Amino acid sequence: MNKNAKIFVAGHNGLVGSAIVRELERQGYTDICTATRDELDLTDTHEVLKYFATQKPTHVFLAAAKVGGITANNTFPADFILDNLRIQTNVIDASRWFEVEKLLFLGSSCIYPKLCPQPIKEEYLMTGPLEPTNDAYAIAKIAGIKMCDAYRAQYGCNFISAMPTNIYGRGDNFHPTNSHAIPQIMRKLHEAKIADAFEVRGFADGSPLREFLYVDDLARACLHLMQHYDEPGPINVGTGIDYTMRETIMLIAQIVDYKGNIIFDGNIPNGTPRKVLDVSRIHALGWHHEEMLEEGLRKTYDWFCKTPDASKRM
Ligand SMILES: NC(=O)c1ccc[n+]([C@@H]2O[C@H](COP(=O)([O-])OP(=O)(O)OC[C@H]3O[C@@H](n4cnc5c(N)ncnc54)[C@H](OP(=O)(O)O)[C@@H]3O)[C@@H](O)[C@H]2O)c1
Repeated sequence: MNKNAKIFVAGHNGLVGSAIVRELERQGYTDICTATRDELDLTDTHEVLKYFATQKPTHVFLAAAKVGGITANNTFPADFILDNLRIQTNVIDASRWFEVEKLLFLGSSCIYPKLCPQPIKEEYLMTGPLEPTNDAYAIAKIAGIKMCDAYRAQYGCNFISAMPTNIYGRGDNFHPTNSHAIPQIMRKLHEAKIADAFEVRGFADGSPLREFLYVDDLARACLHLMQHYDEPGPINVGTGIDYTMRETIMLIAQIVDYKGNIIFDGNIPNGTPRKVLDVSRIHALGWHHEEMLEEGLRKTYDWFCKTPDASKRM
């Protein structure tokens, strides 16, 4: 990917897509094309083909998707499978028709079996049942990986698939119910601080171990893979470091400066006990995360406080 390559970032307004655009600009790429959903609905096959025919990108970062937390996935599984299958099918197929040199498809660590060994290696894909609360989304993502591999095998397309762990950072969705764990906890503790609440409830017992990657690190990883990786199958992107949810919540409380009590409740279901990626393959390619959790959380909270509409997205 040379500095004047024509690069399409699909989903450039999202958490990950906006970080990829920032990183491309920081590294001196000059010809980045983007389109808002109003300009280009990626579920519309005809519109997508027309866009590729006029823009003729040589490189594509596919960071557009219907994304949400457990509640949203559980409530709207049909939307999650349909929109994601449509978006990725349209973009991957148009990339083949218009001879895109390289495409990076973004999946998610939820593609791996619910109870697979830890840390999770790429080879565990399709070795057991998925987590049922987001299996519709995960199946769409698995189809995306398989589609990239099938297009590589049949048409020789250089399409790769990156599987990030839980991502957080500036640009995140702070919606009260449809967001991921970190923005949801941060918002809850921030509101408790503003209300001077004596205590905050609603957390499980805090024992599950989870991994979190700052979004700018993921963006650097995506560019690194675009430059240095040409293999089929998923490649994990994470820190390889996990924290208990209790540690994570207490750290967020400290950053938010919430001084009340936090009640951990053993009656609330916990989910998978541990989820952390094996990142030895991407480390071997020369990429390593840079942002430590505390610093990343500080940057995220700073952005949240300065961004009045951070909680409006659905
Ligand atoms: N966030 C995470 O923790 C995480 C973890 C692992 C993997 N990932 C992966 O990273 C990718 C990006 O996730 P994200 O967190 O950045 O999600 P996000 O913040 O919700 O961004 C998704 C983007 O896709 C766009 N989009 C959705 N449907 C569209 C459509 N029909 N037409 C055009 N654009 C559409 C959205 O446009 P609007 O701005 O108009 O809504 C938004 O800009 C996804 O593939 C996801 O699976 C995310």
